[in-house]
Amino acid sequence: MNVLVTAGPTREPIDPVRYLSNRSSGKMGYALAHAFAHEGHRVLLISGPTSQPLPDHVDYLPVTTAAEMHQAVSRHIGRMDIAIFAAAVADYTPVHAEPQKIKKTGDRLTLELVRTPDILGSARGAFGFTGTLVGFAAETEALEENARKKLASKGCDLVIANDVSKPGIGFDSDRNEVLLVYPDQSVALPAEDKVHLANHLAEAILELAAGKADR
Ligand code: PMT
Repeated sequence: MNVLVTAGPTREPIDPVRYLSNRSSGKMGYALAHAFAHEGHRVLLISGPTSQPLPDHVDYLPVTTAAEMHQAVSRHIGRMDIAIFAAAVADYTPVHAEPQKIKKTGDRLTLELVRTPDILGSARGAFGFTGTLVGFAAETEALEENARKKLASKGCDLVIANDVSKPGIGFDSDRNEVLLVYPDQSVALPAEDKVHLANHLAEAILELAAGKADR
C-alpha cells in the first residue's frame, strides 16, 4: 500500500529569528512511518522540523510551515491508499513575517494571527481523497467527545485521540496512550512506548484499509 504520514510540528515565522511552534517531537509520526515501512509498504513522510532519525526505506519530504505542509500533502495524497495525520500543525500563523528582526520598542507587542489551512479537513473535499483517512486529536478535555466531532467533521475513518494534559504521554514523550475512535465504536489502548504502539496502530489501520477495499 502507499501510505502518507505527516509528523512533527510546523514553524510559523514571526521575523527572521523567531517563530510560533509547539512541543511535537515527531516521535509518534516517525514511529508510524517506520512501522508501515517495516511491513513492506511504501511510505511518504511529510514532516516539520524535528531531530528524529529518518526511518529506513521511507521517502521523506521536509517542510517548515503549515502552508508548506498543506501544499506537499495536496501534491501527493492523490496516489495514497492510506493517509495518517500525526503532525501538530499550527492553527494560526502571523499575518505577515517581518522582514527584519523585531526591535524592543514598547512594553507590549501584539501579533496579528490568521488561520492556517486545515490540511486534514481538506483531504475529503478539496483533495478528493477516497482512501483510508486517519486523523489524530490532541485534547486536554472531553477526549472522546472532541475526537468524535473531528471524526465526523473531517470525514475520517479513524481518529487516534490522546489526552495531552496527562504527564508522561503525548507531546515530546517516548510513550503514548490513545483512544481509537471509529464511527461505530471506541477502543482504548494501554500506554506503551511509541514504537510498539505504532505497530499496533499500523495493524488496526491496515485492517481498516482492507475492510474498505472489500466494500
Ligand atoms: O510528535 P510527538 O512529540 O511524538 O507527539 C505526538 C502528538 C501529540 C503530536 C500526536 O500524537 C498528535 O496528537 N498529533 C496531532 C496533534 C494536533 O495538532 O492535533 P489537533 O487536535 O490540533 O488536530 C487534529 C488533526 O488535524 C490532526 O490530525 C492534525 O494533524 C490535523 N491538522 C490540524 C490543524 C491543521 N491546520 N491541519 C491539520 O491537518
